[in-house]
Amino acid sequence: MYFVHPQIKLKSFIKAKLSLVKSVDLEGLTQKLVAYFPAKQLIFTDMGRTAFRLIIEKLNLQNTAMLLPAYICDIFYPILKEYNIKPIFLDINLKTFHIGTDEIQKKITPNSRAILVCHTYGLPFDVDALRSDLRGRSDLVIIEDCAHSFLDGTGNSGDVSFFSLYKQFPALRGGMLACPNDWQIKLPKTYFNFRDFISFLNYFWPFALFFKKFGSEIAPKMPRREKMRELGGLNRVSLNLFSDFFEATEKSSENRKTLAIFFQKELKALGFEVQNTDGNVFCYLSSLTPRNIQDKRDVIVQKLKKYGVFCTRIWHAPIILNEGVQREYQIDLADFPNTVEAAKRIINFPLQNHYTEKDVRKIITAVKKVIANL
Ligand SMILES: Cc1ncc(COP(=O)(O)O)c(C=O)c1O
Repeated sequence: MYFVHPQIKLKSFIKAKLSLVKSVDLEGLTQKLVAYFPAKQLIFTDMGRTAFRLIIEKLNLQNTAMLLPAYICDIFYPILKEYNIKPIFLDINLKTFHIGTDEIQKKITPNSRAILVCHTYGLPFDVDALRSDLRGRSDLVIIEDCAHSFLDGTGNSGDVSFFSLYKQFPALRGGMLACPNDWQIKLPKTYFNFRDFISFLNYFWPFALFFKKFGSEIAPKMPRREKMRELGGLNRVSLNLFSDFFEATEKSSENRKTLAIFFQKELKALGFEVQNTDGNVFCYLSSLTPRNIQDKRDVIVQKLKKYGVFCTRIWHAPIILNEGVQREYQIDLADFPNTVEAAKRIINFPLQNHYTEKDVRKIITAVKKVIANL
């Protein structure tokens, strides 16, 4: 069975179980992370979006304008509304899935106060180049969205950055804020809950299979209800899991990168278009469905399930396709041709750090069979 979200192998089960019961070694964890963020203060938050909200509050970005990618998830919409931030959406480049620098120059306004850049799928966005392009606008805060890019050294070049732990680590939930050392932040405690328990089971393939088959109705509703409005710290269990699996994930990330490049080569041979590679940690192994069968993307995803290959489509519904966003900010989709195209064609294939070339070959064989029978 092949899934996109992080999986815990059965032989690591004991480690995972211990993470549920022991107390947190925050000092040990900080020591592991200091090499990645030598000049930043790190704050663990309930979710990545909590860290983003802290950034808005600390930098007083309420009632201002913010530049951000049009191709990003719509969890930002309620936050923009809550803080009355006017979004200025930017179209992306289809090779990198990053915002284009020409777009920034075209759309930036005198009252833009911040720009959100995203290291989409794990490919680092060049923040230093952006800073030099924006030399005349030193008032503009650069916020790095590192939700997909732990382990690649991102998060140090922007003014402030945030991470989402559970996308790369089996942490159930969790975000991290990397901010200046003088920020004073104290967050209320949060606790392991029922949703976390379900997420824990979802890290083991028999349960993951069960949830994929039967949970598609309830799963999308549950997190939305539980991902709370209040700002909160990260619960002990998720912090332990992150800490306990950090080194193993770090060590095996080279294997992931090597496999990703092999995977991309095989996909290209089938007509898929793949993301640039340099520095990419491949949080998601993402590609665009071949043009000649692009209207079959959803059928391909559906049919692959029969072969035990569970792909995702992040983001088939990016923020600018959200109906509320379209109404509220008068979006003209003609201004975002690449975002619209990516949303129609994107597929994220399963890739785990522990896979071997044989696993990738099996997935590719399944893709070939599905395409041949379209
Ligand atoms: C690019 C990006 N930024 C931010 C987030 C928010 O992270 P979290 O789910 O931890 O709040 C997500 C995922 O939901 C994301 O994909």
